[in-house]
Formats: sequence, C-alpha cells, structure tokens
Amino acid sequence: MAQGLRIALYQPDIAGNTGAILRLGACLGLAVDIVEPAGFDNSDRALKRAGMDYLDIAALTRHVDFERFDAWRRGEGRRLILFTTAADRAYTDFAFAAGDVLLFGRESAGVPDHVHQRADARLTIPMPGGGRSLNLAMAAAMAAGEAARQLRGRAMSGDPATVADKTLASTSFSQ
Ligand SMILES: C[S@@+](CC[C@H](N)C(=O)[O-])C[C@H]1O[C@@H](n2cnc3c(N)ncnc32)[C@H](O)[C@@H]1O
Repeated sequence: MAQGLRIALYQPDIAGNTGAILRLGACLGLAVDIVEPAGFDNSDRALKRAGMDYLDIAALTRHVDFERFDAWRRGEGRRLILFTTAADRAYTDFAFAAGDVLLFGRESAGVPDHVHQRADARLTIPMPGGGRSLNLAMAAAMAAGEAARQLRGRAMSGDPATVADKTLASTSFSQ
C-alpha cells in the first residue's frame, strides 16, 4: 500500500474551507486531494487570490471526477475512509492505516450514495450536543488529528511518498 495519510474533499463548495484544509494539510504534512468539480474556481491563481498562501507548501492533487480519483486510489492500494453523519461507527473506534484517504463530503450535500458504497469504511464524529453537522474544515481537523495520534507521525511529513507528492503533484490533475 502507498504510504502517507491523505485528506480528500468531494466537490467542495466553499473556498474558505478548502483553504483552511490546505493549510491543515501543509502544517501536518498531509497531502490533499480535491475531487472536482468544485463549487468555486480552484485554479492556483484563484486560490492564491483568495489568500490561500499555504498553497506553495501544500501537496494538492486535483482529480477531474470521482471515478478517476477512485481508480487512482485503488491503484495505490489505499483505503477510502468516508466521514459522514450517516454512519454509526465512531471515528475513535477505527484503526487508521498510514495509506488511508480520509474523504469528506461537500458542504451543501455530503456525498451521493454511489460514493458511500465505494468507501471501505464509513465513520462519524459523534455530536452529543446535537446539530446537523460540523463545519467541513473542523471535521477534517478532528479526523486528521485522531488518525495522526494513532499513527504517531508515521503518515506525516518525512514519509518519502508524501514528500514526493509535494514536488510532483502540487498543481497536477490525475488522469
Ligand atoms: C457540512 S457537512 C455536510 C452536511 C450535508 N448537508 C450532509 O447532509 O451531509 C460537510 C462534510 O463534513 C463532514 N462532517 C461534518 N460533520 C460530521 C460528523 N459529525 N461526522 C462525520 N463527518 C462529518 C462530512 O464529510 C460532511 O459531508
């Protein structure tokens, strides 16, 4: 299995959330995948104009659609771990692996059923206080924090696969 934990965003709607997650990924040493289409212009120039100055050190890969994203991650032998409010299993009860891709749904609608079905695991962040859902970037930070805690840094920066991504994939599309 390829190494290096990754955060994937399914058709994100809100540029500010994506910016916060790119910053999270850059600071923690995690690569970020965007499954297009996004609900905003996510070209490098537009992201920089929106103040996403962490783009230079983020390892960002854009995938033209879910099918190609899913084919790519299967080819790498990575598990797809979906975070959703429509799951019963708490993320803290799951054993993360260093090659996992943590997938988050779009702000307006989560992910469609066919994406749910592709996931190797579906996890929820319990919300005992109520509410419909967490903010996307908050959910990503909690999930990445728990996975990093379990992996004790094994999936973070310094991992050769992750460092290579930073050089090769910072503005790339997977085909
Ligand atoms: C704002 S929420 C999406 C809400 C959307 N209306 C829905 O019905 O799914 C954006 C994404 O954050 C993640 N998320 C938010 N709260 C979560 C929770 N409590 N547990 C797991 N994932 C959560 C999920 O990936 C979700 O698709």
